[in-house]
Amino acid sequence: MPTASVQTAHPVSAGLRGEIDVPGDKSISHRSLILGALCVGESTVHGLLEGEDVLATARALRSFGADIRRGDDGVWRINGLGVGGLMPPSDILDVGNSGTGARLLLGLAASHDLTSIFTGDASLRQRPMQRVMTPLGEMGARFEAASGGRLPITVIGRNTLMPVEYRLPVASAQIKSAVLLAALNTPGQTTVIEPRPTRDHTEHLLRHFGAEVTVTDGADGERRICLTGRPELQPQTVHVPGDPSSAAFPIAAALLVPGSKITIRGVGLNPLRAALFDTLRDMGARIEETNRREDQGEPIADLLVRAGPLQGIEVPPARAPSMIDEYPVLAAIAAFATGATVMRGIAELRVKESDRIKAMVNGLRALGVAVEELEDGLIVQGHGGPAPARSDIRIETEMDHRIAMSFLVYGLGAQSPVTVMGCEMIETSFPGFADLMNGLGGHIEVGK
Ligand code: S3P
Repeated sequence: MPTASVQTAHPVSAGLRGEIDVPGDKSISHRSLILGALCVGESTVHGLLEGEDVLATARALRSFGADIRRGDDGVWRINGLGVGGLMPPSDILDVGNSGTGARLLLGLAASHDLTSIFTGDASLRQRPMQRVMTPLGEMGARFEAASGGRLPITVIGRNTLMPVEYRLPVASAQIKSAVLLAALNTPGQTTVIEPRPTRDHTEHLLRHFGAEVTVTDGADGERRICLTGRPELQPQTVHVPGDPSSAAFPIAAALLVPGSKITIRGVGLNPLRAALFDTLRDMGARIEETNRREDQGEPIADLLVRAGPLQGIEVPPARAPSMIDEYPVLAAIAAFATGATVMRGIAELRVKESDRIKAMVNGLRALGVAVEELEDGLIVQGHGGPAPARSDIRIETEMDHRIAMSFLVYGLGAQSPVTVMGCEMIETSFPGFADLMNGLGGHIEVGK
């Protein structure tokens, strides 16, 4: 069922209660489909995120010739083509709102002897793509892009790219992954050097499917990732953990609504993803891990969260890559803490699905929160309790799912209701969001 565009979150007085699962990890879902498409034989994916972003990647991979189906049992089955086996798509590939889909698939297409054309929605067509075209161009692929290095982009790929040693200019798992995926069909060793480590799901899954990847930590936190090209990948079973970036929203709501106590089962806690939870604990949040385990190199646990007072802090900028998608919800939470929360070193937020610094500053200000916008971040003055809200305004979310969900959880704990526009974008990463929150005792009204 399509999500209504306008949603209103009403403050709830009784605490949220219950045990839930959140949808599968978005990053791991994209990568599982892509690697499955590069194996001859059947891979299976359990717990795939069935959000618009991932479904767009599945459609694009089908256009390249992979056979991808969802069984009635909810398990996804992929019959792939082997490394280097993609076929020319017969139409333009529209990856919707997904930066991950666009950048990873550009890397994949670049290393095949075929021409493909990528586009996306209005938000994605504004986002920088030069960052992947530069290293892929050094490897020998050619691109024709819209002005400013944006989508639509025509990729003229080659199956004889050259291996490179590439140092990332910004901490970005998408750029790293685009190069590594291109390197799969490139003879020899390709090396990506990260000045600061970013989420390493691609590395874990490449190993899981049988590729040779070595990772070396160097001086000053630098990391070198080397991939040997042209492996014969073997079909695998993947179990996708719950997405920590999605879990962040019910966790935020449970922290903000007094008397709440909820459990979220099976959340992925890769240390390069889970820094929000460390930050929230530094602010005084009660988040306990139980039933800790590991699957495909990814740590997983159940999280028990209880409401309680929070203290504003200065978030260490070095944590940014490990919680990059969680700053919007942290900014919403910060409005309820005592004192200021300072978030710096996050200029990358300006080129996400929206300019997330601006979107949070504008929305919080409109609700009556004191916020300072910095070039590379923001400072939120907390209210030390239920944060203010004005029911005569509507929050604009700039086609950004995480901005929409951040203001909805804000509304569940605020002094009065919060109405949020553009909530149809929540389908990209968190199908069923309002129902799940309402099942815990939240009150999100859809379509009002
Ligand atoms: C992602 C990497 C991050 C993140 C995005 C998902 C990925 O982007 O913001 O939501 O799956 O690799 P960058 O690599 O641009 O930082």
